[in-house]
Amino acid sequence: MNTTKEFDTVLKETRLFKPLPEFSKNAHISSLKDYERIYKESIEHNESFWGNVAEELHWFKKWKNVLNTKEAPFYKWFEGGKTNIAYNALDRHLTTARKNKIALLWEGEPGDKKSFSYWQLTQEVKKCAHVLKYLGIQKGDRVIIYLPMIPELAICVLACARIGAVHSVIFAGFAADAIKDRIDDCKAKLVITADGGYRRGKVLPLKSTVDEAIKDSATIENVLVIKRKEDAVFPCTLQKNRDHWYHELYHKVSSEHEAEVMDSEDMLFLLYTSGTTGKPKGIMHTTGGYMTYAYLTSKYVFDLHDTDVFWCTADIGWVTGHSYLVYGPLLNGATVLMYEGTPQFPDEGRFWKLIEDYGVTIFYTAPTAIRTFMKWGDEWPKKYNLSSLRLLGTVGEPINPEAWMWYHRIIGNEKCPIVDTWWQTETGGIMLTPLPGAISTKPGSATLPFFGIEPAIYTNDGKETDAGYLVIKNPWPGMLRGIYGDPDRYIKTYWSKWNGIYFPGDGARKDTDGYYWILGRVDDVVNVSGHRIGTSELESIFIEHPAVAESAVIGAHHEVKGQSLIAFVSLRSGQQSTPKLEKELMNLIETKIGKFACPERIIFSADVPKTRSGKIMRRLLRDIAEGRALGNVTTLADPAVIETLKTQYNEE
Ligand code: WTA
Repeated sequence: MNTTKEFDTVLKETRLFKPLPEFSKNAHISSLKDYERIYKESIEHNESFWGNVAEELHWFKKWKNVLNTKEAPFYKWFEGGKTNIAYNALDRHLTTARKNKIALLWEGEPGDKKSFSYWQLTQEVKKCAHVLKYLGIQKGDRVIIYLPMIPELAICVLACARIGAVHSVIFAGFAADAIKDRIDDCKAKLVITADGGYRRGKVLPLKSTVDEAIKDSATIENVLVIKRKEDAVFPCTLQKNRDHWYHELYHKVSSEHEAEVMDSEDMLFLLYTSGTTGKPKGIMHTTGGYMTYAYLTSKYVFDLHDTDVFWCTADIGWVTGHSYLVYGPLLNGATVLMYEGTPQFPDEGRFWKLIEDYGVTIFYTAPTAIRTFMKWGDEWPKKYNLSSLRLLGTVGEPINPEAWMWYHRIIGNEKCPIVDTWWQTETGGIMLTPLPGAISTKPGSATLPFFGIEPAIYTNDGKETDAGYLVIKNPWPGMLRGIYGDPDRYIKTYWSKWNGIYFPGDGARKDTDGYYWILGRVDDVVNVSGHRIGTSELESIFIEHPAVAESAVIGAHHEVKGQSLIAFVSLRSGQQSTPKLEKELMNLIETKIGKFACPERIIFSADVPKTRSGKIMRRLLRDIAEGRALGNVTTLADPAVIETLKTQYNEE
């Protein structure tokens, strides 16, 4: 959970920002009364509510039941219904005025630009669908996508959905070992990658990372390679009979393609996320429910209108990119902006320049990014005309009121509502959020539940309270359907703390207005810059090193990243802590997970504090790292350990 200091800050926060009349006038949900009426309806008549929403989309065959709870928590939504999400996101618009509307605006980090109308994007997806078929991909096969933020990433995702293949996108910052683990777990047949991708002015060698990841793969049959860079940058070698250039196959295939008819509960995608044990979980999402949920949340939370340009800065490698860069906005016929690179290239004004250049109206980003922009200084956004913006959003981690206020004043010019949206990979879409034309906001609060969602805060014994564990009491269409290949872990992780109640793993508090304030993770998952990292994943990597006896990794408060990872490592006897060893340990994390998971600090210590039964007392380590008075130490096996650690931590 967040530090005590932040907990105190949110407890004291009293500022209230009412919906702006100018905004509410044209909003889909334009008053608190409307929100309350629809919310009540959505809870009391949950199935008919979701049934009516699903009716707004195209179904080849209508469902028999909206919700089947017989095998809970293995819920089924829109059972018997036949549809295709890519058809709904693209083809459905081609008989309307949106046919020639821009679906996707794209800019590469070097400044190259592309745009696709709904018609053009559909053609691209159809051709890509044929390429996948040509490579032997059938309905139900798993396809790994490891690409930079180029249009082909969105195109491949949609093409998989179109033919009924299950996509599993891996963020391009992950290392070869992490890719290998995911391929092995889901037994993928194909990897789609690129010869490179631009980040911070450099070109990432994605294809060689894939080569490394699949060198012993028992399941990968083909690699599809998209050409992104100039040949001169560095060579990209293709292995005969296994690797194929996308552009070569693209020219051979037709643009006539019928979307596969999918069952509502057919798997749509797998997305791996960290948990409390070493092994990442393959979160499963299916078709009809996810589609309905991504559609409605996009429409109401971002108040999408036909004139909007929606920029969600998340990478498609994370769930936010799935739901709010690709599926949700396209299901609504919106125009989205996608950008390949980092915000500081060629200088710290890049994001604001993009907003000005494309007339972005809705901007959705992470609190870490906002804190970074604050640090860079107001002069960067002030150089650009940001007056096209009408709505701002945040996601991924708690936002501190100071960053919220800066966002409101400097980026929103006090004219844009801010939607602080709480949700997870597992929830498929936004769960707690203001609706911008209807709900007053408070800096740092994700406010109220979205339609159809019944949250609560529980004590450890499952009693409702106002500060404790956040739970969701009812199923919703966007919910995960399980963990790939591990139904027991699904039940144990999410549904067992209180029987039948969904436990997301976050702590929260509810104020007297019923507003929710998320306080952070309550398990051993650390949220670094909005990326979930399981501390046990790092610990199990450290102990692979022959010099390491034991390690404990914790998350500590960090001004920009929200949290940072601090590793306490004890060495085997006879081993010395040296800068070289520290570098080796950092490299291990970098090559096994990726650079973004490297700890901020490694503290070498003689021992880590443990209870008498041998459990590492992470709470004490967190107290040390955040300079707090130590909590209860009576269960500690060897109290001397803690004093030594404290001295060491403060000395380094
Ligand atoms: C955290 C990202 C506070 C939370 C969509 C959750 C948030 C985890 C917020 C999910 C928010 C996400 N306020 N905390 N608005 N949004 N979180 O799966 O701890 O990458 O459990 O999904 O991020 O991270 P994930």
